[in-house]
Amino acid sequence: MLRPLVQYPDPRLTKISEPVAEIDDSVRELAQDMLDTLNSVGGVGIAAPQIGVLRRVVIVDVSLMNPPKEDEEPGPQDLRVVVNPVITVLDPAKHIENEGCLSVPGFRAKVARPKRVAMDGLDLNGNPIHFEGEGYFGACLQHETDHLDGKIFIDRISYLKRSMYEKKMKRK
Ligand code: NI
Repeated sequence: MLRPLVQYPDPRLTKISEPVAEIDDSVRELAQDMLDTLNSVGGVGIAAPQIGVLRRVVIVDVSLMNPPKEDEEPGPQDLRVVVNPVITVLDPAKHIENEGCLSVPGFRAKVARPKRVAMDGLDLNGNPIHFEGEGYFGACLQHETDHLDGKIFIDRISYLKRSMYEKKMKRK
């Protein structure tokens, strides 16, 4: 079911989400709602708090693990549900990516994060899953997991750039 997107500055985006203790129908329904909502807007990832549910579930597009070369068409999305995702930094070197977020419409900014990370978690059958990625994909894995800790990408940019966005919001 399509759910309204929670948008900044909604306080739900600043809350820490609860771990999923058991993968039951409520979690499968949540994942389906997240998928439906993500597909309706065409993003590359979503976290449960973005539809107003404070549980540790994200969806990431693992097709981004192997980005197309310049002369190639992008492949189809490969959206995966990850329950209780945990990020491990594999290479702490700084990588800068131009990020945006469904909950922060009309704004993108360069965000520095560790270059290479792993995401571990469970799929909807309770089986362990493990992805590793760097560059854009690595940033996506970190961006979605940040949502579960009440952080959005504008928490990671300079005060100056953030105030530019807030001024722009107020003008609307
Ligand atoms: Ni986001």
